[in-house]
Amino acid sequence: MSDYDFSSSKNSCACHCVKLIVSLGVTALILWLSLRTTKPKCSIRDVYVRGLDKSVNSDNNVTRRDKNISFQLNVKNEMKEKGVRYDDITLNFYYGTNTSYPIGNFTFDGFKQGKDKEAFKSGMIETSNMPWDGATKAVSNGSKAVFRVDVSSRIKYKITFWYTKKHDYFVENKVEIDDTGCKGLVPRKCIG
Ligand SMILES: *[C@@H]1O[C@H](CO)[C@@H](O)[C@H](O)[C@H]1NC(C)=O
Ligand SMILES: *[C@@H]1O[C@H](CO)[C@@H](O)[C@H](O)[C@H]1NC(C)=O
Ligand SMILES: *[C@@H]1O[C@H](CO)[C@@H](O)[C@H](O)[C@H]1NC(C)=O
Ligand SMILES: *[C@@H]1O[C@H](CO)[C@@H](O)[C@H](O)[C@H]1NC(C)=O
Ligand SMILES: *[C@@H]1O[C@H](CO)[C@@H](O)[C@H](O)[C@H]1NC(C)=O
Repeated sequence: MSDYDFSSSKNSCACHCVKLIVSLGVTALILWLSLRTTKPKCSIRDVYVRGLDKSVNSDNNVTRRDKNISFQLNVKNEMKEKGVRYDDITLNFYYGTNTSYPIGNFTFDGFKQGKDKEAFKSGMIETSNMPWDGATKAVSNGSKAVFRVDVSSRIKYKITFWYTKKHDYFVENKVEIDDTGCKGLVPRKCIG
């Protein structure tokens, strides 16, 4: 004979307690899964610094140098069940890896991004106070001119019918440019 009597009121109560705890646990898990958010991914692509392209700056004439930098911002919402709403997205450009040399800013209008979607936005800045001599020197011996691009915005997530509160969104990007004026490695064809 078993020592346990499952029909006793004491055990039946324990059984109810276990059921309650398990269902609370499952509810908490479902809630956590449906509220969990993942920050959108961000990168800076297709950067072209014409002023560092040796094929168009062979005479190194400073007054004729094109001061513009063209680029593409890529933001990706990898969540399968939640949308993202971005406020205006600001890009702060710096020469070097710290913020000592600000060279320009660009702002994209805010937008909504659906589930599992990727956005590509092209822009161009006209640089000011860019240390062209140092950058030209760096790329001319085969190394890279390094730029820093800080991307910032405020975002909120759409969970079924409602939005979460806004969160700060900030991503620091490092862009390395060689003497083709392009971001090294891929893509080689960086214009357009
Ligand atoms: C640089 O370019 C400007 C404008 O095209 C021209 O006036 C100037 O003579 C050039 N300077 C040199 C040193 O070639
Ligand atoms: C920024 O970096 C440059 C060299 O890349 C360095 O000379 C300078 O001291 C740095 N500035 C700060 C505030 O760290
Ligand atoms: C770029 O933005 C920074 C920070 O918002 C600001 O201090 C700076 O004046 C701006 N630079 C230009 C060239 O607009
Ligand atoms: C450089 O950028 C400025 C500002 O975006 C723009 O007005 C100008 O046409 C550009 N110049 C070239 C040569 O693309
Ligand atoms: C190229 O020049 C940069 C800056 O002038 C220097 O930091 C770097 O060490 C040089 N690289 C080579 C391979 O000579």
